[in-house]
Amino acid sequence: MEFFLDTADVDEIREIAAWGILDGVTTNPSLIKKSGRDFKEVVREIASICSGPISAEVTAMDTAGMLEQARQLKRELPDNVIIKIPCTPEGLAATKVLTEEGIDTNVTLIFSTSQALMAAKAGATYVSPFIGRIDDTGHDGMNLIAEITEIYNIHGFETKVLAASIRSVQDIIDSAKFGADVATIPPKFLKAMYNHPLTDKGLADFLADWAKTG
Ligand code: E4P
Repeated sequence: MEFFLDTADVDEIREIAAWGILDGVTTNPSLIKKSGRDFKEVVREIASICSGPISAEVTAMDTAGMLEQARQLKRELPDNVIIKIPCTPEGLAATKVLTEEGIDTNVTLIFSTSQALMAAKAGATYVSPFIGRIDDTGHDGMNLIAEITEIYNIHGFETKVLAASIRSVQDIIDSAKFGADVATIPPKFLKAMYNHPLTDKGLADFLADWAKTG
């Protein structure tokens, strides 16, 4: 399973990339706004820190506009930047064209299995089901991951399932259990993954004993 960071905070990305287990980064317009930086400038810097796929989202609503933005991003930004596109009819049409042009895509704002099926048919490289936002509505986001992975396996779709809108470490474990190829994780949950009080205590005990050896 791959770990992506779900942030446009370059300091956090740099810190976690140094651990050697970071496979990519996702951004969205809200995360770019939170960074307070210019979109292309911050994506360019992220792409220089992490060599894996970096999702940059188009904001046009029509297919022609999405394609124009996507091609411009691919021209102006490093090769590892991929294009994030909303799951609308216009977005599916743009995904199909970009796939034919050999440009990798991440179809986002996926809230149903039928949307994920359509995105796969359009040739999406990744689909991003939003687990947490589904849970927020009182439904089971993880069930969506399970259903999409099952259907993709049955039909041999190559589209990767990227679990998004992660709200806890348990969401990451469950995404892995249900076969998601990737989880895109806010920095605080990726940091929480290694934390365990017994590791801290065990290490302190070992070091204290080591200090007493000859
Ligand atoms: C990532 O691709 C998504 O945009 C992100 O995970 C959404 O997360 P949120 O629901 O916490 O905003």
